[in-house]
Amino acid sequence: MYNIAVIGGDGIGPEVVREGLKVLNAVAPLENIKYQLHNFDIGSQRYLKTGELLPDSVMDELRKMDAIYFGAIGSLDVKPGVLERGILLKMRFDFDQYINLRPIKLYDSRFCPLKSKNPEDIDMVFVRENTEGAYVGVGGVFKKDTPDEVAVQEDVNTRKGVDRCIRYAFEYARKRNRKKQLTLCDKSNVLTYAHDLWQRSFKTMSSEYPDIKTNHAFVDALAMFMIKNPEWYDVVVTNNMFGDILTDLGAIIQGGMGVAASGNINPEGVSMFEPVHGSAPQYTGKNVANPIAAIAAVSMMLDHLGEQKASARIEKAISKVITGGQLPTLDLSENPGTAGMGDLVAEESTR
Ligand code: IPM
Ligand code: MN
Repeated sequence: MYNIAVIGGDGIGPEVVREGLKVLNAVAPLENIKYQLHNFDIGSQRYLKTGELLPDSVMDELRKMDAIYFGAIGSLDVKPGVLERGILLKMRFDFDQYINLRPIKLYDSRFCPLKSKNPEDIDMVFVRENTEGAYVGVGGVFKKDTPDEVAVQEDVNTRKGVDRCIRYAFEYARKRNRKKQLTLCDKSNVLTYAHDLWQRSFKTMSSEYPDIKTNHAFVDALAMFMIKNPEWYDVVVTNNMFGDILTDLGAIIQGGMGVAASGNINPEGVSMFEPVHGSAPQYTGKNVANPIAAIAAVSMMLDHLGEQKASARIEKAISKVITGGQLPTLDLSENPGTAGMGDLVAEESTR
């Protein structure tokens, strides 16, 4: 029996999460999966009403769960950064979810903005470090709002943090068994201290993985090559900030933000699964948000829980629905809508 925390959150979060749970509900009995959902009211509304973001009492509850299924947070009524730091980053940091796993997979070339790229060309996975880098919030501001203002926010890279991330990426490339290739992405030509640590860790560890081919790309070059030659990549490991930026780029080449899913993983603790897209307040309640990213997050969650068959069922269903030819676009403006799309994938998952 799995205990699964559900945080719909803000904007389109609750709508897409509803569809993800619809699919989970359809697949679970077929694979003998028993689970209990625990809903948590977290997000901008609670914050605006009570001033609470993620109270300790909720953190204690979440810690006991087998997984967390998360929609999105973010609201035009709250200053940028408050919900991000107080909710999303707090979970990632406090639960030490040090890996952000982000697959980039094109299902159908019709939905790829790149000329003549096909599904076999765009099939890579980003292993993004998820608890360090510029995200840690080490820094400060001095002489604020004066002409002499100084603002510093450090890029923090620890030996432990870098090693465990790169280790995970090597293991993942081996387990994935596609090209058995791992690319390190950094900016070690400029960040000659911080990213040299990544270089050294990567090089040392590579000797333990003779079966994995390794290569390297500076982040600016990788941004270019992901457009020009996405077929070069299999597994890519990078820091928090670069991973954030490149996986939005990745989402677009795989068909859009509506299909990109991610797992915030602590292999020894509680992990959280969410679509890469945010709360998209302008689409709230319009039944136009594509729930596929949120459904794919359920598939990742099941895989993480050891339910590979159920996970694969959903993955296959998503692929079937996208490649089926019935969808004119993936943005859902002319499509069955959020709930209709959930129905399609749920039904397909039971076949
Ligand atoms: C993401 C998001 C977050 C990030 C924001 C909302 C803090 O963009 O999950 O990619 O930067 O990690
Ligand atoms: Mn992002």
